[in-house]
Amino acid sequence: FRAPVLDPVRRRLEGALTIGDLRKIGRRTTPRAVFDYVDGAAEFEITAQRNLAAFRDVEFVPETLNSVAEPDLSTELFGERIAFPLVFAPTGYTRMMHHEGEAAVARVAERSNLPYSLSTVGTTTIEEVRDAAPNGQNWFQLYLTNNEALNEEMVGRALDAGCKTVILTVDTAVAGGRHKDTRNGLTIPPSLTVKTFLDMSRFPYWWFNKLTTAPINFALLRDYPGTSADVAAMLFDPGLNYEDLEWLRKAWPHNLLVKGITNPQDAARVVELGADGVVVSNHGGRQLDRTPATLDVLPAVREAVGSDATLLLDSGVRNGQDIVAAIARGADAVMIGRAYLYGLMAGGERGVQRAVEILQTEYRRALQLLGLKETSQIASRHVRTRG
Ligand code: FNR
Repeated sequence: FRAPVLDPVRRRLEGALTIGDLRKIGRRTTPRAVFDYVDGAAEFEITAQRNLAAFRDVEFVPETLNSVAEPDLSTELFGERIAFPLVFAPTGYTRMMHHEGEAAVARVAERSNLPYSLSTVGTTTIEEVRDAAPNGQNWFQLYLTNNEALNEEMVGRALDAGCKTVILTVDTAVAGGRHKDTRNGLTIPPSLTVKTFLDMSRFPYWWFNKLTTAPINFALLRDYPGTSADVAAMLFDPGLNYEDLEWLRKAWPHNLLVKGITNPQDAARVVELGADGVVVSNHGGRQLDRTPATLDVLPAVREAVGSDATLLLDSGVRNGQDIVAAIARGADAVMIGRAYLYGLMAGGERGVQRAVEILQTEYRRALQLLGLKETSQIASRHVRTRG
């Protein structure tokens, strides 16, 4: 036991009632270049704002007098029961946000009975994540590169580490135009300049982090001979096409999700080619700006892929009510990216735990106030668009 007065992280987190509160704390406790990397988006950030606006425009249609004392929040995803319809999205360079990094997020996911996705550009290896959360549902997100040996190594190691779900991300033909990162002088791994020194010097942990953070989890990417632009060019392969998906479908024997689709035709096509489902995502507005809000395209995507395909949605989820809205519009579950990274920046593992508690509490309250006893009762009649 540590009294709140002696434990500033605990004191800060206890005062956080919403994901927005965690964001505010994270902004204070993290170097600006790092916070902006998480919080920022591409070009004019129109899509990032649209994602949030689409959730705000949802209007609920509650039903009353339904006896909702003990709602069952759980749901099934790929045959596994999870605590509520939430999955941790893959995020690159997570140890840059807090030295506890991916392992901390994976531990929270394991403890909370929720799946965790490790990014190809994670700063913790697949094996370390498995060891940190041996009983967790650890998924792996793949960027297929133009280096076949690396692709095979990644798929093989995901298999050996016991991953049951791979997510292929397809909305990164090239890197998005994130001007804040350029202006802040953010490079990966971080480089020391006057600007970054002034920014980082107020945050002692970051120096520790900088010294210990392996930039990327695969040696082939880490030690790639070339500039960071060369690495990015290899990582984001503009040549990626449906043949690559066919290759992966043959190489990967378990669940396969394709992430970064907002177009119903594309969604139908990847499912026809054998993907088990789709993550309707615009990468949190970090890639192509002016794509629609994911919530707005979700019903058409559900229609296109049919009821059997697994459909996840991300981009803009900041509240438990958002999860209800996404399910009512056709998703099986949502993914969160920034929502848990704000928690991580605000307080490491405890901050991520707080983010989950906040979302779960809000989700439970939303179900009860809508008059629902369990997740499976959420239906399209419970939401409409304010207009
Ligand atoms: C991401 N995202 C991402 N996606 C992916 O497939 N591979 C990756 O390495 C990353 N890296 C990454 C870093 C950071 C800092 C963020 C914020 C996001 C996208 C992520 O998986 C997810 O699609 C979005 O974060 C969803 O939007 P919200 O929840 O952040 O609004």
